[in-house]
Amino acid sequence: MVAYKTLDQLDVAGKRVLVRVDLNVPMQDGKVSDATRIERLVPTIQALTKAGGRVVLLSHFGRPKGKPTPDASLAQLVAPLSAALGGRHIAFADDCIGPAAEKVVGALLDGDVALLENLRFHPGEEINDPGFASSLAKLGDLYVNDAFSAAHRAHASTEALAHLLPNAAGLLMQAELEALTKALEKPERPVAAIVGGSKVSTKLDLLNSLVGKVDLLIIGGAMANTMLLAQGVEVGKSLVERDMLDTAKAIFAAADKAGCTIVLPEDAVVASKLAAGQETRIVPMGEVPADLMVLDAGPKTVATIAAKLAGAKTLVWNGPVGAFEFPPFDAGTNAIAQNVARLVAAGQLLAVAGGGDTVSAMSHAGVIDKLSYVSTAGGAFLEWLEGRELPGVKALAA
Ligand code: 3PG
Repeated sequence: MVAYKTLDQLDVAGKRVLVRVDLNVPMQDGKVSDATRIERLVPTIQALTKAGGRVVLLSHFGRPKGKPTPDASLAQLVAPLSAALGGRHIAFADDCIGPAAEKVVGALLDGDVALLENLRFHPGEEINDPGFASSLAKLGDLYVNDAFSAAHRAHASTEALAHLLPNAAGLLMQAELEALTKALEKPERPVAAIVGGSKVSTKLDLLNSLVGKVDLLIIGGAMANTMLLAQGVEVGKSLVERDMLDTAKAIFAAADKAGCTIVLPEDAVVASKLAAGQETRIVPMGEVPADLMVLDAGPKTVATIAAKLAGAKTLVWNGPVGAFEFPPFDAGTNAIAQNVARLVAAGQLLAVAGGGDTVSAMSHAGVIDKLSYVSTAGGAFLEWLEGRELPGVKALAA
């Protein structure tokens, strides 16, 4: 784990503090559809303004590929950000470098907040260009990174900039790192992992890394179909990756060698197609009719997972175990999530979840505030679980 400075080690009074945040939030019809990332930035912004800092927020939004694109303007995030900060005025600059940014930043008083336009409107951001980083650095005296969810990108605002100014991790970055360290770097054993989702191919590095670290690897979702088929268990017309069968066999072998137990579904909820409100059946694995597909974990599987987790001390969770967006195929994920929440409440389990659609699955199950930590990071959470070094975290090395 990188030794990094924290906010309390920075003297911010009267200083311009460049804060890298992640305002890459989902939008629907021009409105923020999940404000979790915005809400989680509030403590850092408030701590800095209270201490008399002049806060300059830097973020990307979407993938505009190096040129200004109205759809990707951060102007649309000013109002939601202001609302999360209790109606505080947020100044906005329509460029993140140059005269427009300098004017807005120059007008800030102690305790004020400004948001600069999308960093990715400049090609220098994604290529980690030192010149672009210097233009950003001119706008600040200090640098705080509060964007763990963008820390897997070696971009100018997450990497090069950290080397140009005195830096520290923000409170959200710190909370993410502390939760993740407890869960996997220094965990209380036995450690279990639940990995769900549709494809083995997209989680190969993750599975290979986890078999070496956890005692119990519970695999669910459509990726479990591929693992089962590799063991000769037919799965009807379920989603499978036939070209991944050898890879699946190699994962079983690696788990065996490392002493990691892999748990696969014993039964399944099946239907003829993936759509809400389908007629369903519960069948044991191995008896999935040829014209039906597995869409959720069955009750026996849920009970086995509950029994296994009762003996675990730590859990990391990535990915749903069924097609939770289409009820009733959310039942398995919901039941497991609620059981995990009970174990956490009883002080028996430390549970950290994150990555991809895990946040929406946990939110759908009503446990977002009931696990030990739910990360707002997608790719960064996965890369961290895979054991990779995150450039944005590494750059904060004190
Ligand atoms: C995310 O949403 O995971 C981060 O904001 C990173 O976005 P990116 O995948 O476009 O770099």
